[in-house]
Amino acid sequence: MNAKTTLTYEAILGAQQRTPSWRVEDLIGGERQLDFTKSFMPEGLAGVESLPFLNRDQRRTLNQIRGHEYLSIFGLVEEFILPFVLDHARPRLRDDDHRVRALLQFAGEEAKHIQLFKRFREAFTAEFGTPVDVIGPPEAVAAEVLKRHPLAVAMLILHIEWMTQKHYVEGVKDNGDLDPLFRSLLKHHWMEEAHHARLDTLMVQALGERMAAFDQYLELGKFIDDGLASQLDMNLDGFRRATGRKLSASEESEFRKVQRRAMRWTYIGSGITHPMFLDSVEALDPLLRKKAEEIGPAFC
Ligand SMILES: [Fe+2]
Ligand SMILES: [Fe+2]
Repeated sequence: MNAKTTLTYEAILGAQQRTPSWRVEDLIGGERQLDFTKSFMPEGLAGVESLPFLNRDQRRTLNQIRGHEYLSIFGLVEEFILPFVLDHARPRLRDDDHRVRALLQFAGEEAKHIQLFKRFREAFTAEFGTPVDVIGPPEAVAAEVLKRHPLAVAMLILHIEWMTQKHYVEGVKDNGDLDPLFRSLLKHHWMEEAHHARLDTLMVQALGERMAAFDQYLELGKFIDDGLASQLDMNLDGFRRATGRKLSASEESEFRKVQRRAMRWTYIGSGITHPMFLDSVEALDPLLRKKAEEIGPAFC
């Protein structure tokens, strides 16, 4: 499928209903515990193997810190996706029953994902032993994002949905080395996000006022990038406290360089360069695709 295929709310709702539903409690709690002897994130996102001066345990700890960051950043983004989807549904509750139901299901799933990421973060914090700070708070991030043009926000959400698909399909799906619980989190999230990406495609098409909105989408990218710089400091700080490892000046600068690149790829590059995202912006205006293609490589 590509973004040019005719998408309908009826077809998406049908697909949503055929996807087996799951509960947060099915994924975590009781017997289901995170296994800290394993990595949580695929190396393509974690970028820890390019730090040869860290030993194996230290690299795995950093990988887990990146997993913790992923949980908290998805917690942040779901907090603005939820009100945005509800606001998008609200003005046209009577027009199309399929549309209303598909969007409300989307919102309900994001509310569940917020809870899911929270539960995993609590489990992480309880077991990891060293507190690791995270950027936020979610309300402030949501307020900052939601003051932009709705099309800019819809583009960012589309970027995030496709990015999530890519993360799972390329790094997690066939990766038996990861902690099974973390892998199941990413799998179950992916299952529902596949429909969200299609609903977002329809939201982007519905919104209009392209150029100005695209610039605001880029501003949001900058906002995320600044947040990632702060999160990198917090990860490094957490890593130091968790491992007691002292880094020389050159090791620290290498650590920052490798991790900056990995974090930019995780949250920005893998979305803005996604072919499905590019198809959607091209459908709005071919110039926007060109712009996205010029900017994307800096985050890969
Ligand atoms: Fe989600
Ligand atoms: Fe989503």
